[in-house]
Amino acid sequence: MQLPRYIAHRGLSKHAPENTLAAIQAAADAGCEWIELDVQCLGDGTPVIWHDESVDRCSDGKGALVDMTRDQIRPLDVGSWFSSEFRGERMALLDEALSLVSALELGLNLELKLNPGHDPVELANIAVHRARQVLPLDRLLVSSFDMTALESARAQDEELALGLLYEAVPRRWASDAERLRPVSIHADWTQLDQERLIEIQRAGLAMLCYTVNDPERFASWWDHGVNGVFTDDPGLFDPRYQRQ
Ligand code: G3P
Ligand code: CA
Repeated sequence: MQLPRYIAHRGLSKHAPENTLAAIQAAADAGCEWIELDVQCLGDGTPVIWHDESVDRCSDGKGALVDMTRDQIRPLDVGSWFSSEFRGERMALLDEALSLVSALELGLNLELKLNPGHDPVELANIAVHRARQVLPLDRLLVSSFDMTALESARAQDEELALGLLYEAVPRRWASDAERLRPVSIHADWTQLDQERLIEIQRAGLAMLCYTVNDPERFASWWDHGVNGVFTDDPGLFDPRYQRQ
C-alpha cells in the first residue's frame, strides 16, 4: 500500500464540520487523496461517523452515543455548530460515508473509536466487514487505540492494512506490531521521540503523526523521516490542496 503524505483529519475539518459527508466532499473538492474518519456504534449497534462520546459539542442535541438509537440521532443538526452554511447536515451513518468515499475514489483511514461503554469486538466486526464490502484493500487503512479492536480486525482479514494508534509510542509497540502486523504506527507529533521513530522505520513500518496544523513547527520532523501527517487542512502544507 502506498501510504499518503497528507490525510485530511475527520475529513477536511478546517473547512466543514468534522466527520460529516460535507467534510468528506470538501476534502475531495480540495484535491485530497486520503481522509481519516472516526467510527463508533450507537446503543442499537448502528455504526456512525463520530468522534466524541456524546453529541453535545457537535450537534444541537445532548446525550451519550451509547444511549442513543438511529432514530434519535437522525433529526440532529450536526452542521450549524460549525457554520450556518452547514445547517441541516445529518450525522453520517458508516454506510453513507463509505459510499461517498468510494464514489469519490478517496483512500480512507477508518479509526475504530472506542469511547467508554462500547464493545471493541462488536465495533471491529461491523465496521471492518462493511468497509471491506465497499473499499479495495489499497484504499483502506484501519486504526485504533484499542488493541482488542485491532485484534478482531486482523482476525477478520489477514490482508487488511492496520495502523497502531498511540499518544506517545510505548515500549510495547514492537510486541503489538509482532502480533498485529500493521503497516504503520500513528502517534501524537508533540510526543514524538526520534529514537522510536528510527526503530519503527527500521522495522519497515511507516510513521504517521497527528494532528499537525502548524507546518513550521513540524518541519524538522520531515527531515527526520516522518512519512505522513493527519491534518485538518492539507492546504496548510501544500498549495495543491488549497481551497479556491
Ligand atoms: O487517527 C489520528 C487521530 O485522529 C487520533 O486522535 O482524537 O483526533 O481521534 P483523535
Ligand atoms: Ca480520529
